[in-house]
Order: sequence, then C-alpha cells, then structure tokens
Amino acid sequence: MTNVPGFEGRTAVVTGGSRGIGFATAAALSSVGASVLICGRSEDALVDAVDQLRTATGGMVASARVDVGDPEQARRLVRTAVDDFGGLDILINNAGVGRFAPFADLTDEDWKETLDTNLSGVFYCCRAAIPVMRSRGHGWIINVSSLAGQHPFAGGAAYCASKAAVNALTESLMQEVRQDRIRVSCVLPGSVDTRFGGSDPEREASWKLAAADVAQTIVDLLRHPPRSLPSRVELRPAMPKK
Ligand SMILES: NC(=O)c1ccc[n+]([C@@H]2O[C@H](COP(=O)([O-])OP(=O)(O)OC[C@H]3O[C@@H](n4cnc5c(N)ncnc54)[C@H](OP(=O)(O)O)[C@@H]3O)[C@@H](O)[C@H]2O)c1
Repeated sequence: MTNVPGFEGRTAVVTGGSRGIGFATAAALSSVGASVLICGRSEDALVDAVDQLRTATGGMVASARVDVGDPEQARRLVRTAVDDFGGLDILINNAGVGRFAPFADLTDEDWKETLDTNLSGVFYCCRAAIPVMRSRGHGWIINVSSLAGQHPFAGGAAYCASKAAVNALTESLMQEVRQDRIRVSCVLPGSVDTRFGGSDPEREASWKLAAADVAQTIVDLLRHPPRSLPSRVELRPAMPKK
C-alpha cells in the first residue's frame, strides 16, 4: 500500500480492528500516515492483524486486548493511546457483534453481549476519549452503526435496537461536543462481506459492500474541512441482490 500524506502525527483508535471493517479501516488510516491502535478480545487475532498491518503499510500500529463492553478496559484503551502514542485524535467505534434469532429464542447472554458491545462499548469509549480530545482542542469520533438501526428486521431485535440506540447516542453527543471542535458522526453500512455474525465467507457475496468501502467512507469523512460535519452517512451496496 502506498503512503499518501495527510494524517501524519494523528493517533487513531479503531475498536474491533482485528478483522473485517475495523481491520480495513486501520489499514486505510495507517496508509495515510496515522498511528493506529486497534483492539479486540482475541490476542492471537490482534497479533496477526498488527503484523499484517505493519507489513502492508509500514506504519506505526499497535494493539490492546480490550473488551469494549467493560468500562475499565475502555478507559485503559484510551490511556494506552495517550501513553504510547502521545494522544488521541480519532476514535472509530467499530467493535460489534450480531446475535440473530427469533425474539423468543434470544438468550439473556445474546441480549447482554449485543447491548454491552454495540451500545455500552460506544458509550464507554466515547466517555473516556472526550476529555483527551477536549484537552487537545479537537477530535473526531466515528461510530460504525448499521442500516439495521433504522430499518429493523425480524430476528434482529437485539442488534437493531443496539444500532438504533447508537444512532441516537451519536446525534446527542454530536450536539454536545461540536463547540469543542470534536466532530461526531456515524456511518450506517448495509450488508458488508465480512465474517460478521458467523457469516460464511464461502458463499456468493459479490453484491455486498467490501470492508474497504466502509473504510474509504470513514477516511473521506475525516478529510472534511473543520467547518463541515457530515453527521450521518448511509452506505448501501449499489446493486443489492433482488
Ligand atoms: N458486516 C456487515 O454486514 C455489517 C453491516 C453494517 C454494520 N456492521 C457493523 O460493522 C462493525 C464491524 O463489523 P464486521 O462486519 O467487521 O464484523 P467482524 O468481521 O465480526 O469483526 C468484528 C470485530 O469486532 C471485535 N469485537 C467484537 N466484540 C468485541 C468486544 N466486546 N470488544 C472489543 N472488540 C470486539 C472482533 O474481535 P474479537 O472477536 O476478537 O473481539 C473483530 O475484530 C460492527 O459494529 C457491525 O455491527 C457490519
């Protein structure tokens, strides 16, 4: 990957950066010069991802084993960015899980893991990041939500509810911190070809978005001039399956 100038000296945290959309976003940010800290729960996956990212981009990339659904671990993630990279300019809240089942079959664990990761994780990471961004006088927070947050479907109650709440959280926070020069927005992708929710990578998925498409949208947002704030972006496959 070629190094395109633009984000040198900026530090980005990408939650859920070990695969899928988070990995593609970490790669895109590293290739434009940002220092990138990724997190996830599986140490092996993180080590592998950091290795691949450093090889591909030659950039400064590190990882922290963090479950974003735990407030103390979310605080540690932000502290690690500050201690190891000198600050935090960009937070991409991407970590998410999909537990899909008929409503009556959703277990307490499905419900809790989905809400803890997809919603509380965003809250914990934003809450930890905002004082750091305020003290730096700027910041960008981008939450990876989903079209499922505004178009709920059968079998997706926990997931759709978590993403609808992320959309509301994002807009509320955006209004609260924009005068501090902290821009907050969310990206709402449609179907993306990843292993999300146990998707089978073997089946035909050429109609779906690629993880790199979402990453490109995120980098495009970050390139907006300071006076402009695209606060919600819907990203759809151009030719969905009929
Ligand atoms: N794929 C789609 O069709 C699609 C569409 C719209 C929106 N999205 C959203 O995009 C985001 C990324 O999805 P993806 O498709 O890239 O999924 P993915 O391939 O399953 O990757 C999910 C990433 O999140 C990490 N993660 C999961 N739970 C975590 C937790 N509690 N703490 C920290 N890291 C955690 C995973 O690592 P570990 O498992 O090791 O923790 C992994 O790195 C999610 O928020 C998802 O809702 C996806």
